[in-house]
Amino acid sequence: MGKLSGKVAIVTGAYLVDGGNSIGGATALLLAKEGAKVVAADIVDEPVARLVAKIKSEGGEAVACHVDLRNEDAIKAMIEKAVSEFGGLDILHNNAAALPGPGDRDIVMMEAATWDRAMEITVRGTMLACKYAIPEIIKRGGGAIVNTASGAGVAGDMARTAYGVSKAAVISLTKYAATQYGKQGIRCNAICPGLMLTATAKATITPEVEEMMLKYTLTPRLGTPEDIANIVAFLVSDDASFITGEIIAVDGGIFAHVPSSSESVLIGPAKHGNN
Ligand SMILES: NC(=O)c1ccc[n+]([C@@H]2O[C@H](COP(=O)([O-])OP(=O)(O)OC[C@H]3O[C@@H](n4cnc5c(N)ncnc54)[C@H](O)[C@@H]3O)[C@@H](O)[C@H]2O)c1
Repeated sequence: MGKLSGKVAIVTGAYLVDGGNSIGGATALLLAKEGAKVVAADIVDEPVARLVAKIKSEGGEAVACHVDLRNEDAIKAMIEKAVSEFGGLDILHNNAAALPGPGDRDIVMMEAATWDRAMEITVRGTMLACKYAIPEIIKRGGGAIVNTASGAGVAGDMARTAYGVSKAAVISLTKYAATQYGKQGIRCNAICPGLMLTATAKATITPEVEEMMLKYTLTPRLGTPEDIANIVAFLVSDDASFITGEIIAVDGGIFAHVPSSSESVLIGPAKHGNN
């Protein structure tokens, strides 16, 4: 018996491809391994079907759900699917997002359409998923929501403005959900991943970027989708029953320090202070 036995979970942005996993895919696999019945939801179909087949081949229960997070009726139908297939809903992992493309630049260069897409998918989509999920989770006597934010929602950057601001909104939404429905048994937390080596990241980032990110990460390695899955599985379990409204960095410590300070110490002894 896993620690999520009897629970029903929706994971958005959950799929499997060759060459590694996605964050949502790794999370769906782990939640299913812990006994949850999983609705794997995404706008792409074949990679989700692959994930569902893998969960079933490992003895778990899962169904695929096509959802476009820009469409309110589709989001409502996703929540209804969990209820019709598995009898209710206990867990929502809002992991899907509009990732930053080349058009997501600094404020002066920002195209309004790029901004609108990030706000529509990441902010409005996450809010609407919460809107329709929360009443169902309350019917079960409570449950947990985990939203995927990002370090980009906490600090500024020279580009990716729409992405970063959309993730800041997800952080705020997390606190509002925790505040408004806590007494009805809903816990809502957000995670801020660092660079996680998903299949997509491995295929797109250059060795130079990987090396640079590793330099500023405090652990000897970069993150994996499974690092996020482990924290989501903890946050939605009873082990985390007194944790809500928290924003948890899962980033190998990259946001725990100011790299310029560390480097100045390496270059030469500090010329200030008492020592
Ligand atoms: N990989 C990282 O290094 C990293 C770092 C920080 C935060 N994150 C966050 O983690 C989450 C997962 O990212 P990932 O790296 O696994 O990438 P990903 O591309 O696998 O995840 C994004 C998912 O959102 C889905 N999606 C996009 N538009 C959609 C829409 N309109 N309707 C439904 N689904 C839609 C995509 O199909 C995809 O499955 C995202 O929220 C991302 O912002 C990732």
